[in-house]
Amino acid sequence: MSIARIAVLVSGGGTNLQALINAQEKGIIKSGKIELVISNKPDVFALERAQKANIKTAVVTKVNGNKEQFEQDIIDLLEKESIDIIVLAGFMVILSESFTKRYPKRIINVHPSLIPSFCGEGFYGLKVHEAALAYGVKVTGATVHFVNEIPDGGEIIMQKAVNILKNDTPETLQKRVMRLAEWQILPRAVEKVSADIISKK
Ligand code: GAR
Repeated sequence: MSIARIAVLVSGGGTNLQALINAQEKGIIKSGKIELVISNKPDVFALERAQKANIKTAVVTKVNGNKEQFEQDIIDLLEKESIDIIVLAGFMVILSESFTKRYPKRIINVHPSLIPSFCGEGFYGLKVHEAALAYGVKVTGATVHFVNEIPDGGEIIMQKAVNILKNDTPETLQKRVMRLAEWQILPRAVEKVSADIISKK
């Protein structure tokens, strides 16, 4: 295999997806290529970002709360596109053990804190930054890790620290963590994992 085929799973604004697209255009990601973007929500801005970059998109929603079928629909799309790496970029769904076991060391997530702080079930998006500020930590950051059956519990690939400033609100902190940490380490981690995968093939 000369290039790893990447799928990005999203649920919202897609700024991390944009960081990946930009990194691909700049050649920072050169061992992999984003072939597919899947959203679990229709009408999110992440889908527009993908379409603008000429990347194939799909929307997969949970019908009548049926998670098994939801995950099977995602697997079908991933298989159809022969995807090697799945990147969760603001994907607000916890995947089941049967899904994560299917792709060992092939699913990557970005989380907006320094794991093991402020992570696991219930810690997502702005809630993570609210918790960090409420605790009073002086340093937070972002983590990119492999996904296994434990929410935010898989092996850490990269982390970057960000200082908390005196007048931070959850919103200002979220933006700074994205800009200084998430958008920096996610593309680098994706390149690293892509390069590892193609070197083993
Ligand atoms: C990002 O901060 C990401 O780290 C976080 O949601 C945001 C999505 O933003 N993910 C989680 O909290 C997962 N537990 P984006 O759609 O603009 O990339």
